[in-house]
Amino acid sequence: MIDKVYNFGAGPAMLPEPVMRKIREEWLDYRGMGVSIIEISHRADEFIAVLEEAKSLFRELTGLPANYRILFMHGGARMVFSALPLNFAGRSATRQCLYAETGNFAKVAAQEAQKFCQVKTVISSAASGYDHIPALPLELIDQDAAYLHITANNTIFGTRWNKFPDGGRVPLIADMTSELLSRQIDYNRFGVVYAGLQKNLGPSGMAMVIVRDDLLGYADGATPTLLDFTRADKDNSLTNTTNTFAIYVIKLVLEWLKEQGGVAAMEKTNEAKAARLYQVIDGSDFYRGIAQPEHRSIMNVSFLLNGDGLTDKFLQQAEGRGLYALKGYRSVGGVRASIYNPMPMAGVEKLASFMEEFARAHG
Ligand SMILES: Cc1ncc(COP(=O)(O)O)c(C=O)c1O
Repeated sequence: MIDKVYNFGAGPAMLPEPVMRKIREEWLDYRGMGVSIIEISHRADEFIAVLEEAKSLFRELTGLPANYRILFMHGGARMVFSALPLNFAGRSATRQCLYAETGNFAKVAAQEAQKFCQVKTVISSAASGYDHIPALPLELIDQDAAYLHITANNTIFGTRWNKFPDGGRVPLIADMTSELLSRQIDYNRFGVVYAGLQKNLGPSGMAMVIVRDDLLGYADGATPTLLDFTRADKDNSLTNTTNTFAIYVIKLVLEWLKEQGGVAAMEKTNEAKAARLYQVIDGSDFYRGIAQPEHRSIMNVSFLLNGDGLTDKFLQQAEGRGLYALKGYRSVGGVRASIYNPMPMAGVEKLASFMEEFARAHG
């Protein structure tokens, strides 16, 4: 019998168990109101308190400078892909927006932007199967561009930017969907940071967008109201009925993160978790990591098995042990272990031991 299932899915991903328990506890009767949090108005004082608490916890946990605004936008990260050129291309006379193509979502972000601005791809690792992050020197960044977009962590291939590029005068925009709050970052280096919620933050379908306030006010006239960051900021992300449940869950996840010691403590644990899996991969000829070692993600560990036809057996046996959703992305194959903040070391240890055992049995 399986005593505990560990969910290694890339997103929607696992949530911390104490958060799930708290949701269950408060579900039918939110703090003595006799109704659920999802049944009250998004303009009710009780909900506004949740929204404000989520924002202030995020500020506290990240040290976000005061000149950055926090927005909750509908439609997940891909809706932000469309919103970025609509909000910022107008900053440049030529409407040029720069994109670093380091993976599938990076490419999709650029393709979407192309509908609304002049996209220039400044670097690409497509030719080597997105297994690394190419160097991006300042000379490649046209200083008249509206922004430079990067994908901080590439969920599918398991690579990440260890050192963020310097855009000079050009604001840096980072898709941090699969790594927000997993490592300490200096927000002053970014114009915009955004993330779909479904990995480190909460339910799918929404995104958090952190914007430096001097970048607001440039939206194209035809920007749909609900994609306009300036309007969202003015309305405290309540232009229409927001996803109240998602914001409630974010608040609980941030409270949990604070109890764990905050982002610095989480980063340390995340590094230890990833190191344990890479140690197994590097320690045997049976496994082959997809990302080049110096560009490895600490959130998504992607690897192949060297034995032909053994991947399905690996996945099947893993699932039988309570190691769920380890299948690699369809275009890459192999195995991907997504080990976001809520994944405990015990889950990683269980996977690492299984990998060692499987390699011994089949190597
Ligand atoms: C890095 C990255 N960006 C964007 C997305 C798309 O997010 P969403 O499904 O919220 O649009 C994903 C989804 O996994 C992702 O990993």
